[in-house]
Amino acid sequence: MDTRPIGIFDSGIGGLTVVKEVMKILPGEDIYYFGDTARVPYGNKSPETITKFSFQNTRFLIDKDVKAIVIACNTASAFSIDSVKDNFSIPVLGVIEPGAYAAARETKSGKIGIIGTEGTIASRAYEKAIKKLLPNAEILGCPCPLFVPLVEEGWAGSKVSYLVAEEYLEPLKRAGVDTLVMGCTHYPLLKKVVRDVMGPDVALINPAEETAIDLMKVLAQHNLQSELKDRSHYKYYVSDNPDKFSKVGGNFLNKEVFNIDKIDIERY
Ligand code: DGL
Repeated sequence: MDTRPIGIFDSGIGGLTVVKEVMKILPGEDIYYFGDTARVPYGNKSPETITKFSFQNTRFLIDKDVKAIVIACNTASAFSIDSVKDNFSIPVLGVIEPGAYAAARETKSGKIGIIGTEGTIASRAYEKAIKKLLPNAEILGCPCPLFVPLVEEGWAGSKVSYLVAEEYLEPLKRAGVDTLVMGCTHYPLLKKVVRDVMGPDVALINPAEETAIDLMKVLAQHNLQSELKDRSHYKYYVSDNPDKFSKVGGNFLNKEVFNIDKIDIERY
C-alpha cells in the first residue's frame, strides 16, 4: 500500500488523454501531471533534446515524491524510455510497448498502420516493438503533424480535420491495414474522424488505454497501489501559461482542469 501520487508527463496538454484513462481504471490513485508547455512540441525535436527534457521532467516529478512515472508522450517514449528506465530507480512506463501489444493482439492480417509525430515515426519504435511480438508483421508508418494543432484549436470534428485526415490516411487505406495505432497523445480526440476515413473494419488502437492497464499491473507487482478513497487528488504543473492549459485541457479530460502551478523546468 502506497498513497504517494503517480507522476505522468507529456510535452504539453496531450498527455491528459493518458491521465483520463488512468483516472478511469485507477480511481483511488492521486496523480501529479507535468505538461512541458514551454517546450512543446516534442514531435519535431532531436532524440538528444527529447532525452534531456525527459530526464528533467522525471527529476521534477521524483522531487515531488511520486511512486512511478508514466511517459505519456509518444515521442518522448520512443526516444528516451530506455535511458529513463536505466537512470532512475522507480518504475517507469511509456506508451509505445502497451500500444504495440494491443496492435499485435488486434491484427488479423498482420498489416498495421502507425500514425504519430515525425519523431515517433522516424524512430520506428512502434515497428520494433510490434515485430518483437509478431516478427512477420507488415508495418506502415505515417507522420501526421497537422493533427496536433487541429486538436489544440478545438477543430477535431471540423471539415478541415476530415480533409487533412483523408490526405494523411490515404496511403494506409490503400495498403489495406486492418489495425491502426493512434500513436500520439492528441489523436484519440480525432477518433471519430479517423474511424470515418478508415472505415468500420479497421481496429483503432489508443495506446493510452493499454498503458493504464499496464500501470495497474506494475503498481500491483511492486505493491504500490493506493487504497480506495472517496476523492483522489489531481495536481497539474506546467512550464508555461496555466490559463491556456486549463482552457484546452477540459476538451481532453472532459472535465474541468484546475489546481495548476507554473514551474521552472530548467532548474531540474
Ligand atoms: N505529445 C506528443 C506525442 O505524443 C505530441 C505533441 C508534441 O509534438 O509534442 O508524440
